[in-house]
Amino acid sequence: MEKRYIIGNWKSNKTVKEAKDWLTTFHQVTVNGTLDTDRNLVTIVCVPFVHISPLFDELKTLLSEKFNLLLGAQDVSPFPDGAYTGAVSAHMLSGLVSYCLIGHSERRTHFAESDEIIAQKAKQLLKYNIQPILCVQDANIPIPDGITLVAYEPVWAIGSGKPATPEHANEVASMIKSKKPQVEIIYGGSVTADNVGTFLSQPNIVGVLPGGASLDTDAFSQLLAHAKHQN
Ligand code: PGA
Repeated sequence: MEKRYIIGNWKSNKTVKEAKDWLTTFHQVTVNGTLDTDRNLVTIVCVPFVHISPLFDELKTLLSEKFNLLLGAQDVSPFPDGAYTGAVSAHMLSGLVSYCLIGHSERRTHFAESDEIIAQKAKQLLKYNIQPILCVQDANIPIPDGITLVAYEPVWAIGSGKPATPEHANEVASMIKSKKPQVEIIYGGSVTADNVGTFLSQPNIVGVLPGGASLDTDAFSQLLAHAKHQN
């Protein structure tokens, strides 16, 4: 069966303690059987930089046949290691995360990130075998070479409680794929347990990127349960 991606985006939330508590609870819910593992469902949680190392250490003892969760970052420096105060390079992330979001609309809007900067970030990540998840806000955003996973996230659907219709998301995904046939498309913007199945049933959509619904273990577990059902 085809792989499906459920990629949580915590954005700028949680203390380290809250992050560890989330992991403990999520692990319990999963291994207690309410949510058995489906190997075709790739579950990733993209967390703030400060949580990556502590969660990586906790995960080492939790990962098992019944529990599989991958860590992702939410951003990366466009530069290599060096004199770039405050920046976290792809080299520093290597070995800790498997995926990294780039080009999220919140980064483009609040941090003035351009397509050129985002392309530099993609290059850095690919150099260290971290898979970029490129967020695009429409079908015209340039997709740098080497990108294989693209998240279509219409700005008006993010955090608004008003998701795109699955048909619209599928149509934009199809437009993106007509230009870059090798990429896989996921959808993000107000995804919840209630609507995840409608997105995953679209032929051009292989996953979802929930923000708000990934912060709470109950909401995230329910979302996964519905996604599994859809599989
Ligand atoms: P949301 O966020 O699910 O809270 O709308 C999605 C995102 O911005 O990635």
